[in-house]
Amino acid sequence: MFLAKTISEVRAFHQQHGGTWGLVPTMGALHEGHLSLVRRARAENEQVAVSIFVNPTQFAAGGDFDKYPRPLERDLELLKLLGVNLVFAPANAEIYPPNFQTYVTVEGITLPLEGAMRPGHFRGVATVVTKLFNIFQSDRAYFGQKDAQQVAVIKQLVQDLNIPVEIVVGETVREADGLAMSSRNAYLSVEERNAASVLYRALCAARDAFLRGERDGDRLRAVMRETLQQEPRANVEYVSAADPITLQELEEIQDGVLLSLAVRFGTTRLIDNFLL
Ligand code: PAF
Repeated sequence: MFLAKTISEVRAFHQQHGGTWGLVPTMGALHEGHLSLVRRARAENEQVAVSIFVNPTQFAAGGDFDKYPRPLERDLELLKLLGVNLVFAPANAEIYPPNFQTYVTVEGITLPLEGAMRPGHFRGVATVVTKLFNIFQSDRAYFGQKDAQQVAVIKQLVQDLNIPVEIVVGETVREADGLAMSSRNAYLSVEERNAASVLYRALCAARDAFLRGERDGDRLRAVMRETLQQEPRANVEYVSAADPITLQELEEIQDGVLLSLAVRFGTTRLIDNFLL
């Protein structure tokens, strides 16, 4: 496994190693959700690359950028065991050199949900992901369904800018009590961690109502809210029953629906979703 710190090292390695390439972009602090994407990339491509870069432009000022976990040695050990060919772990100045001034903005679908709660977040994601696509020129790129809006934004970006990469989406990996795996779960106290499974219970309650035939968007949002209210530590930011493509809230569900929610426990913000 080759560890590249610079873009020119990635390009040279790419030129020397032919075949299909799969890229798994990450911010490190790898958990089973990331590793399942890496295993899938390993199975579907001749060469597998993983990027590890805590991208400053997708964090709000005063957000958790500084305290975001960076266990690089441990991450590298895990990736070596999975047979990854190339890891790119650049310094900030390699991605954002002095005088950097070009950003990628996806419009409509970045406005609701996460976009409304985290202004500028998707501009940072779209910019770094476009750069990674240009740097790696991989055949496929792997993202987790847990960040459903991020997936929608990246698919839109690839379509709009004609980027020749196939976006592969891996299912959300969950703890035994249903909590979606996330690097941010490490911030939770024991009490908050126990309480956090309420996100999954809220999604299950709305899914069950949907499976019983409920098609009223307001009702599904109310079911999620009622479940979350049973947990006093949960501060709800939003619950949503939206069109999976446009991400607009639905009054009446006709085809599919993306149920999603964002909840704070103390200073830790968790998101989760079900695509029905
Ligand atoms: O999902 C993430 O970890 C990040 O948003 C990504 C896609 C690696 C871009 O920094």
